[in-house]
Amino acid sequence: MGNSRWKCVELNDDKLDDVFNNAIESKTLIKNRKTLTIDYVPERLPFRDNESTMIAQTLSVILRGGRPSNLLIFGKPGTGKTAVVKNVIERLKHKADDLNMQITVPFMNAKTANTSYKILYEIAEMMGINKEEKKLQVHFTGLSLGEATDRILDYIRRKNLRVVLVIDEIDSLVDKNGDDILYNFTRANERISAEQFISLIGISNSLTFKDKLDPRVRSSLSEEEMVFNPYTIEQLKDILVDRCKLAFTEHAIPTAAINLCAAMAGRETGDARKAIDLLRVGAEVAEREGSNTINETHVRLAQQKIDRDTNYEILKNSTSHTKIVILAIINSKNGNTGEMYDIYSSLCTRLQQEPLTQRRITQIISELDQLGLVTTNIVNLGRYGRSQRIKLVIPLMTIREAFKDDILLSSIIPDLK
Ligand SMILES: Nc1ncnc2c1ncn2[C@@H]1O[C@H](COP(=O)(O)OP(=O)(O)O)[C@@H](O)[C@H]1O
Ligand SMILES: [Mg+2]
Repeated sequence: MGNSRWKCVELNDDKLDDVFNNAIESKTLIKNRKTLTIDYVPERLPFRDNESTMIAQTLSVILRGGRPSNLLIFGKPGTGKTAVVKNVIERLKHKADDLNMQITVPFMNAKTANTSYKILYEIAEMMGINKEEKKLQVHFTGLSLGEATDRILDYIRRKNLRVVLVIDEIDSLVDKNGDDILYNFTRANERISAEQFISLIGISNSLTFKDKLDPRVRSSLSEEEMVFNPYTIEQLKDILVDRCKLAFTEHAIPTAAINLCAAMAGRETGDARKAIDLLRVGAEVAEREGSNTINETHVRLAQQKIDRDTNYEILKNSTSHTKIVILAIINSKNGNTGEMYDIYSSLCTRLQQEPLTQRRITQIISELDQLGLVTTNIVNLGRYGRSQRIKLVIPLMTIREAFKDDILLSSIIPDLK
């Protein structure tokens, strides 16, 4: 008895030693980990010269003492919008410093600050308003949106500021909170004099974002517009080669593995973030194996891991009804739509939820199909007509893991076999 316990401990120790040793040995793989993180903005952004120049041109009006136009930037995720805007702003700040000119450029991410008030609070923080006396501050809570906005605008007037407010992922702000604060800010310039102003740069991942805006907000926010196109596979290769030089030691990653990352990310969406994610996770996989190079197998394993993590996030954050639909698909014998809907309804009854209509469930299923979580096939039943067959394509384990903290579902999750 005692013996086997000791054995067990020894084994564990060996394993742990391996982990540490691998970590020490594969130290040679990654030269600069920071360059693989999401926030890292490289100095050189190839293939975005035109976009950078146009944004710089719009903003350069400031250096001549004028108010730059509001600007709306669109593009799918990973097309370099955030990186390009951050880069141009850094350069603008340097230029303004050289000229001894005061400019204020708060950079907000509307997805992180997810309520209108939180956005106003963060703008106030970044602009230094909360260092003013109490009655001029935008406190963490307690003011109306109108009052908070007024305090920000008063501050701009009092301090004679030239402000370029950047709102990144602005589409998620409007989806969740409407466009009230945008309305207030775009209107503000009518109330402020020419030397003090607030111009807006909105960055949106959604191409149809503009349709959701009030026409007045739309026309003033998009005084200028710009679209970022997805990268081609060839462009992604070049971007990755640059990034690998920054991140890895020489010979750590062969060209074939880089090309595979570019091809995988480029085939679907031309998304540079995805390509860099593959590099980072691929490197982690290689490190864990104690390998001194990152090969194509590591990249393929990275892709699987990223997919698993994405599916998990989507499942975890989906609505209760979507989750119940997924459970119904699991419990249906042949994936037939009618049978699935019956099971869905009875699960709703068990959970004391009002079932959604069959039409709505069909929509949910087609959304799941688009996300790649299920596949749907039309099966020809001869003279009995045609029927849709739904199949889940994610492992049960991922689902169980993603749903396990959902209190509503806790009574039916143990049924998942
Ligand atoms: N032209 C480029 N050159 C080098 N890296 C780039 C380029 N475009 C994007 N990236 C990198 O790809 C990732 C995603 O870019 P990002 O600007 O966040 O995209 P978006 O804001 O459009 O979703 C970031 O790590 C960024 O540094
Ligand atoms: Mg972005």
